[in-house]
Formats: sequence, structure tokens, C-alpha cells
Amino acid sequence: MSNKQQNITELEFSEKYTEDHARYYFEKHDQEFWRRLSNWRDHQVCAKALKIAGNPKSILDMPCGTGRFWDLLTEDPGRKLWASDNSQDMINAGLKFRPPEVASRFETFQGSAFDLPVEGNFVESVFCIRLMHHIGEHEDRLKLLSELARVSSSSIIISLWVDGNIGSWKRKRHEAKRGKKGHQNRFVIPQSIIEDEFKECGLTIEAKLDFIPYYAMWRTYVLKVQ
Ligand SMILES: C[S@@+](CC[C@H](N)C(=O)[O-])C[C@H]1O[C@@H](n2cnc3c(N)ncnc32)[C@H](O)[C@@H]1O
Repeated sequence: MSNKQQNITELEFSEKYTEDHARYYFEKHDQEFWRRLSNWRDHQVCAKALKIAGNPKSILDMPCGTGRFWDLLTEDPGRKLWASDNSQDMINAGLKFRPPEVASRFETFQGSAFDLPVEGNFVESVFCIRLMHHIGEHEDRLKLLSELARVSSSSIIISLWVDGNIGSWKRKRHEAKRGKKGHQNRFVIPQSIIEDEFKECGLTIEAKLDFIPYYAMWRTYVLKVQ
């Protein structure tokens, strides 16, 4: 559920990214074997997405979290880079714990994904990994997509959970068992729905890259801004 204040859409899950959580988030992708493997595969998918997007010369990493992809994004020495997140604690953890030669390539600012404090066509590409699956409502997704389309002059790289795979089928069973207990903060979005939403926001699909085809829920779309 979201609650709207002026132009900002507030998501309940956004509040959990405190200083302690930022440290935990930074470390978790680097620890267990399966998380490291998943992080490696995420990087592989994102590297392919960047190539399909034409290796953009300017990128906004939003939400950047603790800079999980900063190593990949800085591989191009001539690329201009910005990073933004709703949580200043997450940005700070990235700036503190990532290697200085990587972190120093980014200009950072705090902001809401629904109302970014930058002008239209600010960058060639917006890199939006692991935010959309937290957004359960159609209106909120349209608002996010329109904002990304405003800020990007050429492409959007965005990941989310989609249906049509074993993971989403298991998730559905799990949610049915759990019933209405507890607050839901992650959502599987049917492919047909999200793809209609892209269209509604004037975005065309350049590529669909699955984490593990037919098995995993994670999909990264490369979208062209009209
Ligand atoms: C799951 S993390 C993903 C971070 C990074 N992209 C990654 O893959 O490691 C989600 C991030 O979204 C940020 N966030 C939550 N609500 C937001 C909002 N309304 N606008 C911008 N960022 C938001 C959180 O602070 C958190 O850093």
C-alpha cells in the first residue's frame, strides 16, 4: 500500500534502509556462496543489458543502494556517473565501503524515485535494479516509469520479478499458504501487465534478460525511451 503526499509516493518498505541495514545489505551480497553466485549472475545480466543499451556514456544508478554495481558501471573510463537513493545511509555505506577509486567516480544525491531532483533528459540511461518488485500498485508503477522516462534521454535498464517461471509458481503457493498475515513488500508482476505499463509510458522493449530462464523470477528489461 502506498500513501501519497504531494508529488511523492511513499512506500512502506523504503523506511527499513537505516544505517545498520545498509551495513548488512553491503555485506550480504559478499558472504554466502549462493549470494555471491547470484551477485555474479546479476552482474553478467547487467553487463549484457548495458551493451544492448549501446554502452551509455552517462548513467544514473537509482536506487544505488550500497553501490553493488559500481564496479561494473565504472568499467568504461569515460562514462559520467551519478548515484541516487532514497536512503542517505545506503549511499553513505557505498561511499565508505566501496574502493575509493570506484566510489569517487560517482556524484551522489538523495531523492525519491518518484520525483527525482534533476532536469529532464539528465542522463542517457537510468539503471534501476531491484526497486520495481517492491511496487504492488499499478498507479505507482506508472508514476515510477514516467519519472524514469523523463530523466533518461535514451534507455532504461530495469529489473523486477515476473510470472511465467517456476519461482513465481512457488511464490504464489507460498503466498496462498501465508494468507493475509504480515505486510507484503515484494510482488510478482505479470509480464503482460508490466509490458502494457511500459507501452503506456511510451517505452519500447529492446531486450528481456532472465536471471535463469523459466526458473527464476528476476528479469531485466532494456527499454528504449521514445
Ligand atoms: C533492494 S535495494 C537495491 C539496491 C541496488 N540497486 C542493488 O541492486 O543492490 C532497494 C533500494 O531502494 C531504495 N529505495 C526505497 N524506496 C525508494 C524510493 N522511493 N526512491 C528511491 N530509492 C528507494 C532503498 O533505500 C534501497 O537502497
